[in-house]
Amino acid sequence: MVTSETSLAKRILDIGHSSTMRIASTTIQMKADGIDVIDLCVGEPNFPTPENVKNAAKRAIDDDFTKYTANEGYVPLKQAVIRRYREDHNLEYKPDEIIISTGAKNCLYNACAVLINKGDEVIIPAPYWVSYPHMVRMMQGVPVIVETSEKDDLQLTPKKFKAAITPKTKALLLNNPSNPSGIVYSRQQLEALAEIAVAESVIVLTDEVYEKLVYDGIRNTCFASINEQAKAQTIVVNGVSKAYAMTGWRLGYAVGPRELIRGMAKIQSHSTSNACSISQIAAIEALDNAQSDVAKMVAAYQQRRDYMLSRLLQIPHVSCAQAQGAFYLFPNFSAYYDTEYQGNVIRTSQDLAYYLLTQARVALVPGDAFGMGKFIRFSYSASMKNIKIAMERVAEAISKLQPVSESNRNP
Ligand SMILES: Cc1ncc(COP(=O)(O)O)c(C=O)c1O
Repeated sequence: MVTSETSLAKRILDIGHSSTMRIASTTIQMKADGIDVIDLCVGEPNFPTPENVKNAAKRAIDDDFTKYTANEGYVPLKQAVIRRYREDHNLEYKPDEIIISTGAKNCLYNACAVLINKGDEVIIPAPYWVSYPHMVRMMQGVPVIVETSEKDDLQLTPKKFKAAITPKTKALLLNNPSNPSGIVYSRQQLEALAEIAVAESVIVLTDEVYEKLVYDGIRNTCFASINEQAKAQTIVVNGVSKAYAMTGWRLGYAVGPRELIRGMAKIQSHSTSNACSISQIAAIEALDNAQSDVAKMVAAYQQRRDYMLSRLLQIPHVSCAQAQGAFYLFPNFSAYYDTEYQGNVIRTSQDLAYYLLTQARVALVPGDAFGMGKFIRFSYSASMKNIKIAMERVAEAISKLQPVSESNRNP
């Protein structure tokens, strides 16, 4: 038998190809050709994993902690997660309300598998992290994308949330702080969303993997900390990837109502099984003893954010929310659509990202990957030196753009 597309299950056929493929493949080719592209597509910290965390993992190997652990996670790591939620959010969780998985992404996937029946609607505010709609579709659910607006700081308003709810709504998938916008919801805003979620019995799946990376002295509010009713219908997803510079260790965790966590554990037991034993030991060290490393990284990110934001706002007609979290800025560059430079016509965020890649040698992610085509994502998980060069190049390339000529106008 010769396999073809028709051999694939429908759930795979429904998953679109990455809209950023052209940018990614051109970036790879340019780098291979020795061109000094500055990569601001980066979705992971550009810091090393803290020394004490690495040492804990080395000791785990030497101590032969290299076998299967409990499927739902090694109990001492669950205890460390409990300590963090108690200290950071004044929240109490029991070990059976926690699951340790192979990255936050794995937790999100398992949560979707547990929650979503065919036809269930999941409300996803845009801009959203690229994987959310795909995960919902893989479960045969329906992603209901709710576009946010700049006047609301790219946040889901209670009004829009309420308007999106139908009898088929199962869950709200929230990302706070947000990738790609860096926006952080205030406690007051979350309270308003929680009130609706509770009244309408909408389960909240909240991805708080960037919770530690917040600036200007603010603290991130965990959705489950709003009140007991909200906690009873919220799964919080988190992990060590972003806060502790541990993306490669593949370690995430989720806390939430016992029966939902038990369901996620069932899925996990028949798919990935426990997360890597060595990474679990490293994560205990990270959660318990790396908070000062986090503070240093946060200070560096904040400096870069301040610089990048000020440079972006100096570009005429560009607007950008005062993002207080994650390591991304998401400026609106749509004033530069319908422009051109030497025959390069720019009509979309894809076109602009391609132009900036080829002309400015700066790699960026076009906003349509996140459901908002007027924007472009800039990551500041890069050295200050590279950020300065990149912003110089972007400003120069943008200044060369001219209104599209008569001959290049759309018919
Ligand atoms: C919003 C968001 N959630 C989840 C993840 C995945 O995290 P992990 O590495 O723990 O799987 C990422 C990684 O880019 C992310 O940006």
